[in-house]
Amino acid sequence: MRQNIVAGNWKMNNNLSETKKLIKEIKKNLKSVNLKNTRVFISPTFVNLRTAVKKTKKCEIEVVAQNMHYEEKGAFTGEISADMLLNLGVNTVILGHSERREYFGETDEILTKKVNTALKNNLEIVFCFGEKLEDRENKNHFKVVESQLKNVLFHLSKKEIKNIILAYEPVWAIGTGKTATANEAQEIHAFVRKLLAEQYDKETANSISILYGGSVKPNNAQEIFSKEDVDGGLIGGASLKADDFTAIIKSI
Ligand code: PGA
Repeated sequence: MRQNIVAGNWKMNNNLSETKKLIKEIKKNLKSVNLKNTRVFISPTFVNLRTAVKKTKKCEIEVVAQNMHYEEKGAFTGEISADMLLNLGVNTVILGHSERREYFGETDEILTKKVNTALKNNLEIVFCFGEKLEDRENKNHFKVVESQLKNVLFHLSKKEIKNIILAYEPVWAIGTGKTATANEAQEIHAFVRKLLAEQYDKETANSISILYGGSVKPNNAQEIFSKEDVDGGLIGGASLKADDFTAIIKSI
């Protein structure tokens, strides 16, 4: 059975004391929640990962990184390697977020290298993809999603692809308050699962979690998560408030 996942993407928010406070609040809230088959991720900024790992040692929250470099080490000022993450106790990394693609020039080619390096180091990946508004308006969203997945992931073996969690994030829905409807999300998720089944096989396709991201809030999470092929969410803004994040986790 594939896992449900609710992942908080904190982006460039929360200094050290805010990080500690938010973790404390989420931990307190989750005490009364039966997580069953649901994994909960938080992704603080790099400088607070170590503290976050320490503070979540005795609970089910998993700390994930927002990015990493594709080189193992060397003269890459300001960058973070896979080994550095692993050494802190971080076992999962988000790759391909649309903000990385848009503001930091991450192309499919760069992302392919990052995916390969992460897998080589046994890091699990949350791989983000999704179309821009103009793609959807021009009815190109299926094509765009297909090419993002094919270009970056479909060279992987069956075993490797199982270490990937997919996150469909239509760019027009991120931080805008505009959510894809539950049916729009389901339509793409089902399409992605069909692509996975064609490229690999049905069993593989059914074992991969596909999250939805883009303005998920406590008031829309339940409807989106109720769809057959939606296995959870990648949550930005609402993951910064413990009560909202908890409510979203409870919606699954
Ligand atoms: P949002 O962000 O929930 O604030 O729209 C989602 C994301 O960027 O992962």
